Amino acid sequence: MSFKSDFPILSKKIRNYPITYLDSAASTQKPNSVIESLTNFYENSYENVHRGMNSLSISATDQFERTRESVKDFINAKSSKEVIFTRGATDSINIIANSLIKKFQDGGQVVITELEHHSNYLPWMKICDNSNLELKIVPVNENGIIDEQQIIDICSDTTKILAITHMSNVTGQILDIKKIKSSISKDILIALDGCQSIAHCNIDVQDLDCDFYSFSSHKLYGPSGVGILFGKQKILEEMDPPFLGGGMINDVTLSTFSYADLPNKFEPGTPSIEAVVGLNASLEYLNKINFYSYFEEENKMRNTLIERLKDIPSIQIYGIEKQINASSIVSFNIIDKNYNDISTFLDQYGIMIRGGQHCCQPFMKKMNIPGSCRASFGIYNDINDIDILVDSLEKTVKLLQ
Ligand SMILES: Cc1ncc(COP(=O)(O)O)c(C=O)c1O
Repeated sequence: MSFKSDFPILSKKIRNYPITYLDSAASTQKPNSVIESLTNFYENSYENVHRGMNSLSISATDQFERTRESVKDFINAKSSKEVIFTRGATDSINIIANSLIKKFQDGGQVVITELEHHSNYLPWMKICDNSNLELKIVPVNENGIIDEQQIIDICSDTTKILAITHMSNVTGQILDIKKIKSSISKDILIALDGCQSIAHCNIDVQDLDCDFYSFSSHKLYGPSGVGILFGKQKILEEMDPPFLGGGMINDVTLSTFSYADLPNKFEPGTPSIEAVVGLNASLEYLNKINFYSYFEEENKMRNTLIERLKDIPSIQIYGIEKQINASSIVSFNIIDKNYNDISTFLDQYGIMIRGGQHCCQPFMKKMNIPGSCRASFGIYNDINDIDILVDSLEKTVKLLQ
């Protein structure tokens, strides 16, 4: 079952071809209900939030805060105080890293993997450069796979935080967080980059027992410009926010100030109000269509695509091993063909895939490739899209010979 008809952009044509959208790992398309919620909000309720007692401001604040409740329920956080609105996952991760540097003053290690997106790489690299923390990087194997046991082995009594992707944006590999958590010291904080897993796994932050979980609305069928930082309440209360400004204070004098309570303490300045409201429409939509029931289909599509790609001569697929848990993303190259040429040719058939390094240059360097093609699925894809992709890819390979 596919939900294509709920997404107006997917009924459009490019060069007379229907759009085959296979770039959801970069950003998802938006259903009608999200688009309508933005128009409706602008037309009927727009005002700044948390600022005034006028009717529009009360209504806008009410809708804004309703999203927080919905996110809390969606990820099963204990309290809406644990749900912070940010500008995106990149912002969330930077906030975590920069807020924790003080807590980690006595040194120790930060553990990440070679599979991280730059957004979950550079903030940690930078805070380690600027402190006496040491950055430890768990390598991927020759096939581009992370072995959870290696993460467990690299963590020690002096590790402060394990900051890893839950699901890779290059290979689709999903890491077994519960297995890792149960095998490392209870004192190690766990910060998950949930940018991909939020759209392909049933996320329950209490069950995962992670300390932080970050994601972006735009990868979950919602508007861009808003991200979520989930953090356990006790830890967030102990942390100092890295950015200061209006809306996040309790009291200010000429020489002192005190922070507001959670979650406002981490939300300085005017937020992306309409995007937060639009995120609620996306969560309501996903709940209505029983989003989780689609995950099985995505797995089947990934497996089918991999099997079909294997029939194409000179194909190289990254991050595939039978026993790993993975979903929705397939990265590949045709040997001696440029990934940008491939994606440009596929675009001639209305097919949107991604060619590039996917913000994972250390991974590309390890695989000894300049980049790759990446096809990724969302709830609007079905097996027909795979046929279109593979048929067009075969034509492209012939043309490029
Ligand atoms: C795994 C992963 N982490 C982090 C990010 C950064 O997300 P954003 O650009 O929305 O901040 C992305 C986006 O591609 C991603 O896929």
